[in-house]
Amino acid sequence: MSTHLQEQLRRFDPTLPLERARTIPAAWYLDPEIHEAERSAVFGNTWHFAGRLDQLTAPGAFVTLDIAGEPVLVVRDAAGVLRAFSNVCRHRAAVVMNEPCGMASKLRCRYHGWTYDLAGQLRGTPEFEGVGEFARDEHGLPELAVSTWGPLVWVHLGRPAMPLAEFLAPLPERLMDLNKLRFVERRAYEVACNWKVFVDNFLDGGYHVNTVHPGLSGALDYSRYRTETFDQCSVQVAPLKASDDPAIAQSRAGDCAYYWWVYPNLMLNLYRGVMDVNVVLPLGPSRCQVLFDFYFEQTEGDGARQFIAESIRIAEQIQQEDMDISVEVQRGLASRSYDTGRFSVRREAGGYHFHRLLARQLQAR
Ligand code: FES
Ligand SMILES: [Fe+2]
Repeated sequence: MSTHLQEQLRRFDPTLPLERARTIPAAWYLDPEIHEAERSAVFGNTWHFAGRLDQLTAPGAFVTLDIAGEPVLVVRDAAGVLRAFSNVCRHRAAVVMNEPCGMASKLRCRYHGWTYDLAGQLRGTPEFEGVGEFARDEHGLPELAVSTWGPLVWVHLGRPAMPLAEFLAPLPERLMDLNKLRFVERRAYEVACNWKVFVDNFLDGGYHVNTVHPGLSGALDYSRYRTETFDQCSVQVAPLKASDDPAIAQSRAGDCAYYWWVYPNLMLNLYRGVMDVNVVLPLGPSRCQVLFDFYFEQTEGDGARQFIAESIRIAEQIQQEDMDISVEVQRGLASRSYDTGRFSVRREAGGYHFHRLLARQLQAR
């Protein structure tokens, strides 16, 4: 580790109580060395949402994704076993499967045509006769840990310190029955900010709702908005005012919106009959991609279709507002006038919790 990186990492103190805490320094949102450190210590060492189980039911079904620069492939093999691999060809490192999802009887690299079976074993190596000390069975795709919770498939790029269920606790037992939800649509956004800016914005305990989302503020009971933190996740509970506003579904008196966050970059927004899963993928120190997966309990009929369209339209509006402010924050973080900030004790426990978890992994290196 370079001394520069060591110095940067030492600049955050995770032991302070919230009342005295500082945010992680601005450089952590800008520095390519921090970005590299996160790739291995954070993204390379945690459970990560990879796709939906409903995409991976039949043998040969696969999904691909890029986790902070690591191409990953999840596939249902011929025997029905769910497997995950590094999606990088052992010959010259081309990405093996390029489509975001699909069906395949074998995994064929488009560069020189090497083929792997659905269990990751190398089977075909055209024109490779006579190559010495080359054993096909030593050149399979490196296998990754994979696990599922409800409709979501998770992978781990390293060695999991704990099973997924333990990692997610208490989320699984606290959530409504996710199996009633049907996936409807994915939307993808590219945002000119560090991935942590977008996560910070999500975790500010409703602090920005009235100012950045005037359209949403009337629907939430801001005074009773609260945050609970757990080991690797947190939840913001926002009691709703009774409303027909599709932004929050047709809430009834006593309903709440639940904004779950799972370290480091997954958010689950839950309203009655609606779930919106967001994952924030780093594309570089100052760029990220945000994926939105929309799920609804009611998907049949004109009423449901109308409700879905309106609900997604409003989510887009809110997302635009969140993206605009995140890009602005990224610009501000690059200013020489700003280094660290303070947290609202009333609102921002979730943000500090995130910074502590992040620092724990980065500083342990
Ligand atoms: S890189 Fe895949 S076959 Fe050459
Ligand atoms: Fe927001």
